[in-house]
Amino acid sequence: MAGIPHDHYEPKSGFEQWLHRRLPIVSLAYDTLMIPTPKNLNWWWIWGIVLAFCLVLQLATGIVLAMHYTPHVDMAFASVEHIMRDVNGGHLLRYLHANGASLFFLAVYIHMFRGLFYGSYKSPREVTWLIGIVIFVAMMGTAFMGYVLPWGQMSFWGATVITGLFGAIPGIGEPIQTWLLGGPAVDNPTLNRFFSLHYLLPFVIAALVAVHIWAFHTTGNNNPTGVEVRRGSKTEAERDTLPFWPYFVIKDLFALGVVLVVFFAIVGFMPNYLGHPDNYTEANPLVTPAHIVPEWYFLPFYAILRAFTSDVWIVMLANWVTFGIVDAKFFGVIAMFGAIIVMALVPWLDTSNVRSGKYRPMFRWWFYLLIIDFVVLMWCGAMPAEPPYSIISLIGAAYWFAYFLVILPILGVIEKPTTPPATIEDDFNAHYGAKTHPAE
Ligand code: HEM
Repeated sequence: MAGIPHDHYEPKSGFEQWLHRRLPIVSLAYDTLMIPTPKNLNWWWIWGIVLAFCLVLQLATGIVLAMHYTPHVDMAFASVEHIMRDVNGGHLLRYLHANGASLFFLAVYIHMFRGLFYGSYKSPREVTWLIGIVIFVAMMGTAFMGYVLPWGQMSFWGATVITGLFGAIPGIGEPIQTWLLGGPAVDNPTLNRFFSLHYLLPFVIAALVAVHIWAFHTTGNNNPTGVEVRRGSKTEAERDTLPFWPYFVIKDLFALGVVLVVFFAIVGFMPNYLGHPDNYTEANPLVTPAHIVPEWYFLPFYAILRAFTSDVWIVMLANWVTFGIVDAKFFGVIAMFGAIIVMALVPWLDTSNVRSGKYRPMFRWWFYLLIIDFVVLMWCGAMPAEPPYSIISLIGAAYWFAYFLVILPILGVIEKPTTPPATIEDDFNAHYGAKTHPAE
């Protein structure tokens, strides 16, 4: 596919030409910063920058925290208290890191649902989407292992429950679980490897983010209309786009500023609001907490995991068909990972040839229901696994799968979409009038 026509960097001074022939790094930075960006992007497009900020924040605060943290079961809890009390600014570092993880997930969920509404996953952006899903899974792994490090009660028991899921895999589950834990139960080897991987994975995420950005810079950004930038002539492309610098940099920084006002208010005034009080009690393998509740961002998937109990007909059917190999626990694990896999497959499950949800009158309502479903699942995940929450979780889980596997494929066939604007320029002019182009 031909790229969007735009100006390229021309090395001017002797030094620039010298460097450009050997390493065209300035040209790469120029092209990245000046990338032509659809000029009708709305505020849902700011979350990528918030995510990039979160990644840098987590890396910076995490590296300093690691300088004072001790990954040993006898000292981990005390070393975190030492960070909170004795290290200069230590409590701020820790609260930034802990709440930074929450902001990271809030941003990623908004970013993903934005993509789901505007059809950003559709051709030609499938690879951007798939890399996004890999980043999301890596984020979940990183956050899970990070939560184990303070070695509080929730750290220990959360790790025990979640690594126990691997034990549910028939036949090979237990050896895998032992291999993951570094022994028969969550203990010092587990804490050590989780610390090592928790330090490593954010760098892997950073590399994946670079590829993610490379992918959508290759295809160009999607936009609220889902209409592509005209690629024929430079003038037409310019009428659909504005360079990323300064227009979108300023817009994104403004939005980031607003988000950070709220973020710092939480870090400063209610830093433990999203945490669990039990994690201020040191891990004790002999005392199980009354309710083991994961962090809020895991709750929808945790609810799906717990929804499929042995009295659910589909679990009974799977059990019967597989001669008892697939039990309720294993089914729950498959459902939890399956909930992410169906999201990964959405570029191929959505059969509509209209990209943006703005022009899909039926899709829109099913999509809004998906968001409600996600919030309801999150709520159920925090509740005890008993009626009525168990039944609500089951309905919520069923809707999640139905949306991706049944509703999206059918909607593309039966829905009559409305007509999107012919060009991005038309959409922009309809909102802001025709005279605002900087070239005029
Ligand atoms: C560390 C995590 C991530 C970072 C830093 C990141 C960053 C970005 C940035 C900067 C953009 C440009 C437009 C925008 O701001 O929205 C973008 C676009 C996009 N992201 Fe992400 N992203 C992350 C995770 C994800 C995840 C988890 C998904 C989905 C599973 C995803 C899917 C997409 C898609 C489909 C686009 C293209 C949208 C468009 O063309 O405008 N991203 N991402």
